[in-house]
Amino acid sequence: MLSKKMEKALNEQINAELYSAYIYLSMAAWFESQNLQGFATWMKVQNREETGHAMKLFGFVIERRGRVTLAAIEEPAKEWKSPLAVFEGALEHEEYITGRIGDLVNQAIAEKDHATNAFLQWFVNEQVEEEAAADSIVQKLKMAEKSTGALLMLDHELGKRT
Ligand SMILES: [Fe+2]
Ligand SMILES: [Fe+2]
Repeated sequence: MLSKKMEKALNEQINAELYSAYIYLSMAAWFESQNLQGFATWMKVQNREETGHAMKLFGFVIERRGRVTLAAIEEPAKEWKSPLAVFEGALEHEEYITGRIGDLVNQAIAEKDHATNAFLQWFVNEQVEEEAAADSIVQKLKMAEKSTGALLMLDHELGKRT
C-alpha cells in the first residue's frame, strides 16, 4: 500500500499532468487564433497525451489502494509572441516536469517503495521523448525564423500528428 506521503505526491503529479494538458490546450487555442491549424493539431494530440499521463497515475494510485483526490488546475498562459516562444515554453515546461518526476523517484527510493519506483520509470523514459520532441521543434522554428514559407511547411508537417 502507498504511504500517505507518496499518495499525496502522486496526487500532486496527477494535478501537474492535468495542468500540462491544459497548457497544451491553451497553446492549441493560440495556434488556432494564428491560423496555424497544423501546430494546433500537434498541440491537441499533446493535450490528449498529457491527460493520458494523468490517467495512468490515477490508475496506479487506485491499484495501490490509495485515494485519488483532485485539486484546482492553475490557469495556463494564453498569449505568446511567436510560434517559437510557444515551443520554448513547452520545452521549459517539460524540463520542469522531468524535475518533478525525478523528485518522485527519489522519494520512492527513500521509502523503499519498489513498486512506485518501477511504475515511475515509464515516466522517466517518456520525459526523455517529451523533451526531445519539443526541442526538435524549437530548433526547426529557429531555422524557419523570418521565412513564412518554412513556417507553413512546418505547420503542414506537424498537422500530420495523430
Ligand atoms: Fe506528462
Ligand atoms: Fe509532457
